[in-house]
Parts: sequence; C-alpha cells; structure tokens
Amino acid sequence: MTTLAPADPASIVRAAEILRDGGLVAFPTETVYGLGADATSGWAVARIYDAKSRPSFNPLIAHVSDIDAAQREALLPEAALTLAQAFWPGPLTLVAPAAPGGSVCDLARAGLPSVALRIPDHPVAMALIRAFGRPIAAPSANRSGHVSPVTAAHVAEDLAGRVDMILDGGRTAAGLESTIVSFCADAPTLLRPGAIPREKIEKLLGQKLVAPAHAEVTAPGMTASHYAPNARLRLEAHELIEGEAALDFGGRLSGRAPPGTVTIDLSPNGDLVEAAANLFASLRELDARGVERVAVAHIPERGLGEAINDRLRRAAAPKL
Ligand code: TXA
Ligand code: MG
Repeated sequence: MTTLAPADPASIVRAAEILRDGGLVAFPTETVYGLGADATSGWAVARIYDAKSRPSFNPLIAHVSDIDAAQREALLPEAALTLAQAFWPGPLTLVAPAAPGGSVCDLARAGLPSVALRIPDHPVAMALIRAFGRPIAAPSANRSGHVSPVTAAHVAEDLAGRVDMILDGGRTAAGLESTIVSFCADAPTLLRPGAIPREKIEKLLGQKLVAPAHAEVTAPGMTASHYAPNARLRLEAHELIEGEAALDFGGRLSGRAPPGTVTIDLSPNGDLVEAAANLFASLRELDARGVERVAVAHIPERGLGEAINDRLRRAAAPKL
C-alpha cells in the first residue's frame, strides 16, 4: 500500500520510521523526486532496484545532511571540498573514493570503491535526512527507463503499490537531475551534465572538467534509452513534418505549425532554466496526449542547454 502524504512534520516522522524499517519513501528534492531507502542497508537498497525494475545494480546517490557527514562517507580531495562549500546544499553530486568505515552499503555503491554524495537543497528532503539520521540512497523515483518525476503525481503513476510513502512537496524547482562530478581519476570528471552548468564548476575550480574514460560510461543515466518517453523524437527540427507534434523552444516551431498541431513550448521566452524545469513534465504530457512523433526545436548547447540536449538525445535514442 502506498500512502500519499502531505510533507508535514507528522508525515516526516512517519517517513523516517518507514526508512528505519527498511521501507521506501519517495520525497521531493530541488531537482527531481527521489526514491529513498536506508543507504546503510543492502536489503533496503535492494527494494529500490526492485521497485524501479532496474535491469542491473547501478550505483545510487547517497543524500546526506552536511559536509561532515559527507566526509565520513568519502575521501573528498581539496577541489571536491571547494565545490561542496560553494554548491551544497544544491544540485551537485560528488563521486569520490569511499572512506574506510563509511556507512553506505556495497549494494548502494554497486560494489564500486567509490561513493556518490549530495546535500539536497529542499526543506522536505533535509527534514527527512535529519529525522532519519543516516544517509538516504535515492535514485530518481521513476520506473527504470521512464522520465524522471517532478511531481508527486508522476511518482504515483510509476510507483504506486511499490513504495510505502510518497511525500508530496509540490513540483520540483530545477526539474533536471544534479550535475555529477567525479574525483576518482587524475582530473575532475563530468559524469553527468545537470542542473549546475559545467561553466560554473570549471570557473570555481580554475580548470576544465574532463569527459569520462570509457570504463566510466556505465552510469544508467548514460545508457542510450534511459530517459525514453513513448513518443519518437526528431531532434534539431526546423519545420514540422505532417502528423508530428512540436516540442518547441522560444516559439521557433510554433509559428509554422498547422492549426490543431499539439505544441508544447519548453520556454516561450527562450530561457534555458525554464526549459530545464519543464522538460520531463513536457515529455510526459506528450505521452499523455497520445502523440507518436515529435519534432523538437533546436536548443542552444550553452549553460543548462548541454544537460537538456543530453536528456533529449537519450529520449530520442532507439529503445533497447
Ligand atoms: O538530482 C539527482 O541527482 C536525483 C535526486 C533524487 O537526487 N537523483 C538521481 O539519481 O538522479 P539516479 O540514480 O537516477 O542517478 C544517479 C547517477 C547514476 O547515473 C549513477 O550511475 C551515478 O549517479 N553514480 C552513483 N554512484 C556512482 C559512482 N560511485 N561512480 C559513478 N557514478 C555513480
Ligand atoms: Mg534516474
């Protein structure tokens, strides 16, 4: 049975109890909703993979309450600490070698010698982590291969009956997952573009983020069809082919759409932050409207555009 609960203090106490009992709680963060379990319990973490129907054990992000807690879990080098101080709480995930004696279980790390950590910038997420008192492992709260949820209703669509409680904190602000930077190789590596633009991180570090070495491209967010809606997407469209819906940006396509065309504009003003916040909800809406083919307008590859285009390319990739 899934309880859909308002994110009030009593529900948070109850949610922490569920986590202590090895249960699953979906909760809002500033990026997307997370599907949370006790990160220190392999059994609890296994329920996450099961609920999501994940085809493999991919490593999960452990959500912690403060930098001290992060340092108990990972050996954060100086540069990682600089990023933590600048961007936490916030949509940045740091991957670093797991600390000896760290509490995040092996399954949450998928057996890797490293661990992924972040402090979310959301009052409900923070209240839950504090009430629970241990790291919470949480991937995005969707079934494997579906788009990430930005409302409690999206979570319920995918996971009703598979999660013990959904804390409803309204729609998430960023609408795009955290940026993931790894400090496991010689140079800081951008494992996943996300809600913090690469440029901001590079500026602070005073160095470029490198691309992952081939062996690192195993993250589920990096498999070709991870963010797949049902509709087929045609990217970089300059015009509409008959029968297509339009996923627009800055009104580029709508002007040319025949009357009756299903059109969703990610940002009529051409604002990349607004487009990021609307992305997953828009993909879901296209599916809900039964659209089969979608022309997607060109999105500039700067700032959050890099992450948006990354998601769109995955959404457009042939399904496995
Ligand atoms: O915004 C977000 O990051 C959301 C919210 C809920 O915090 N979470 C999220 O989790 O997007 P998930 O599981 O959908 O994506 C986590 C990513 C995966 O691509 C995973 O492979 C990568 O983090 N990851 C986790 N631990 C890792 C590690 N030790 N080494 C490399 N990649 C890791
Ligand atoms: Mg995900």
